[in-house]
Order: sequence, then structure tokens, then C-alpha cells
Amino acid sequence: MNDQGRWPSEPPRAVAKRLGTSPRRRGWLIALEGGEGSGKSTHAGVVAEVLAELGIPYRLVREPGGTPLGERIRQLLLSGEVEIDPVAESYLFAAARAQLVATVILPALAAGETVICDRYVDSSLAYQGYGLGIGLEQVWAMNRWAIRGLVPDLTLLFDCAPEVARRRHDRPGDRIEGRDAAFHRRVRAGYLELARMDADRYVVIDAQQPPERVAEAVRAAVRQRLGAAVGHRKAGGSGETGRGRGAG
Ligand code: TYD
Repeated sequence: MNDQGRWPSEPPRAVAKRLGTSPRRRGWLIALEGGEGSGKSTHAGVVAEVLAELGIPYRLVREPGGTPLGERIRQLLLSGEVEIDPVAESYLFAAARAQLVATVILPALAAGETVICDRYVDSSLAYQGYGLGIGLEQVWAMNRWAIRGLVPDLTLLFDCAPEVARRRHDRPGDRIEGRDAAFHRRVRAGYLELARMDADRYVVIDAQQPPERVAEAVRAAVRQRLGAAVGHRKAGGSGETGRGRGAG
């Protein structure tokens, strides 16, 4: 774990720059993050609505999954049918992600689509890095090649106390949901720390508000981040200039 609350030696944008991932992109990458039952998946639909209003073509994907390989790995990770060591778990999430980035996300971005990702690399940093205590440095090292340095332009963090989320979604959990309360508290604190360390790309949304208020906050965040850039493109600016903040 990086105890100083700082990014490991090579922060996401530095990797993106070195690998040259970002400059080839034309669409935006928007990630939705949060603990269990934070309502993030429901609000992916709200993000999609705003993009449609702005005339931006989009595609919605979820992690782990979204590819034939990723769905097989998802089944292994969540079903509890086999025992999985914490480091192996981290690599499995990274492997599913590598396949999704290479075969779905990068081609979609290159084709000008904006990708809405229901969970992305920050899930691994929060759940495996902080939750399981593998460490931010280690989990980032496992993932930076998996994501080819591709960091989101906007990450919406749906922040919710695990006790509140549990009261809302009282259903039998999968292998990861079923972990103890302390694990879920570490995940939440980890996410908040990530948001603090990378404030440019994060918008933290209070997911304990009534759903309409959460939806309003989502709309405002997406319009604010992407609306201006779209206006710039329509006014004749190049896609490069208006892309947002992912490339650092
Ligand atoms: P899912 O049913 O998709 O949960 P949710 O609706 O909360 O997104 O299951 C994904 C589970 O996997 C969830 O418990 C979070 C966990 N997870 C990790 O631990 N690390 C990761 O990198 C990712 C992508 C997910």
C-alpha cells in the first residue's frame, strides 16, 4: 500500500503519455465507480441519456465482462465455485480488463464512440488495492499494461456508506459482495482517497441522496465536462483539443 496517499511512481497520465494511448482516441471514456448497492449501474442510463441529448454516439460496457473471455472470468471471480488467492484475483480482474480494453474499448473510442464503463481500473485499486490490502502500487503495476495507459476522461464516484447500501439491497451477495463490513469500509475509503489524489478526473456524487437528486448530479457532471468540449468541436475545433482531461 502506498501509505503516503500519493500515486505510485508512474501515475496514470504519465503511462498514457508514454504509451501514446490517448492521442489516437476520438471518443471519451466515462467510468462509473462505487461500492456495492451505490446505484451506479442504474445511473449509467442517465449518462447515456445525456450523451444522446448532446448527440454523442456511445457504448455501454461493464466490468468484469463485456467479452467472451471476460464473461468466463467474471463467472470464476464472482460465483465462489473455486478458491482464488488475492493476488490471483487481482490478475484475473486485470486479464478481463485487458481483453475488454483491447477488443472493445479502444476500437470504439477510435471509431468516435464514447464508452461508458460500469466499473474500470479504479475498482481494482479500491477493491483489491485497498479492500484486500494488496496495495495501490502493486495493483496499479498489474493494471497499467492491461489498460494500455487508458485512463477515463471522467470518473463518477457514487459514494455511499456500506451500511446504507446494505439496507437498500438486502439480497444474498456474490463472492465479493459477501465480504465483511471492514472490507467494504476500506473500499469506500480507498475510493475517496483515489478521488482526492486525482481530483481532475473524478466527480464524487453523494449516492445517499434521493435517486432524483443523484440523477441531477450525474447530468450536471456529464454536461459540464463534455458539453463544453462538444460545443468546441461543433464550433470547428479539432477533436484533439476538445477531448477532455484523460491524456494529461
Ligand atoms: P457486479 O455484479 O457487476 O457488481 P456491481 O453491480 O456492484 O458493479 O460485480 C462486480 C463485483 O466485482 C463487485 O463486487 C466489485 C468487484 N470488482 C472488484 O473487486 N475488482 C474489480 O476490478 C472489478 C471490476 C470489480
